[in-house]
Amino acid sequence: MNAPRILAVTNQKGGVGKTTLTFHLAVRAAEEGHRVLLVDFDAQGNASTALLGSLPPTLRSHEGAAEVFLAKEIHPLPTPAGVDLLPGHQHLDGVDAFPFEDTPERLGFLLGLPYDFILFDTPPSVGLRNLAPLLWADRVFIPIEPNSFAAAGLANTLDTIVDVRATNPRLAFTILINRLIPNSSQQRAHIASLSGLAPIYSPYLANRVAVGGALDQCLPVWKYKRADPRLRHLWRALCGDLLYGRN
Ligand SMILES: Nc1ncnc2c1ncn2[C@@H]1O[C@H](COP(=O)(O)OP(=O)(O)OP(=O)(O)O)[C@@H](O)[C@H]1O
Ligand SMILES: [Mg+2]
Repeated sequence: MNAPRILAVTNQKGGVGKTTLTFHLAVRAAEEGHRVLLVDFDAQGNASTALLGSLPPTLRSHEGAAEVFLAKEIHPLPTPAGVDLLPGHQHLDGVDAFPFEDTPERLGFLLGLPYDFILFDTPPSVGLRNLAPLLWADRVFIPIEPNSFAAAGLANTLDTIVDVRATNPRLAFTILINRLIPNSSQQRAHIASLSGLAPIYSPYLANRVAVGGALDQCLPVWKYKRADPRLRHLWRALCGDLLYGRN
């Protein structure tokens, strides 16, 4: 049995598409027959809600996603899409007080879990729930909305990645432009300033009502009847590229 591929989605900025991307990656990997675990580190539990189709259960501070830090074994919830879920919940904040020093060695525990992919959705904040997935991951995806704050946010994230590589030298990263407004020259200028900082995945992801609509229905874009064929294809191809490292 191969060890799981560990992928994280992060950006301390809120509302840039972290949960949307993590949800799609998890569903796509499960559709392709892989064993998938999604760890929802966000107390808002949006990825958990999308996967379960309802609000996640009320859990105690050491349960749900917190299990990856402490537990001898995990107790994931099954979901209709076939993804196993360690849910986010409102008592996850306590995780941020766990000792950082113990975090890197939990990688051995994760690599022993019976999955092909372990995916981490992270909260829009700075703390252990953002840092730990970077210490464990093979690759981190950084969705960015191209606006005047994006370059500063990306520079911070890249600094963190440089620091983390002292402990996890294999960490690779991919930047994705999300919520692009077609023909916005302002956004194009922001993207040009970002590409000086790091390579960016192409194609960019446009702001499309159907993306939000699909998530509201707890469906991936490619199963959402209001999404046009091009959009469906784009998101499916994106997930394939990111899951298998074709970027
Ligand atoms: N390409 C897109 N087109 C249109 N809407 C999008 C797109 N990507 C994300 N959204 C919408 O933007 C909102 C924020 O997305 P999402 O929840 O994935 O961001 P997030 O980074 O996880 O936010 P948070 O930091 O609060 O966890 C959601 O309503 C989502 O449906
Ligand atoms: Mg989110």
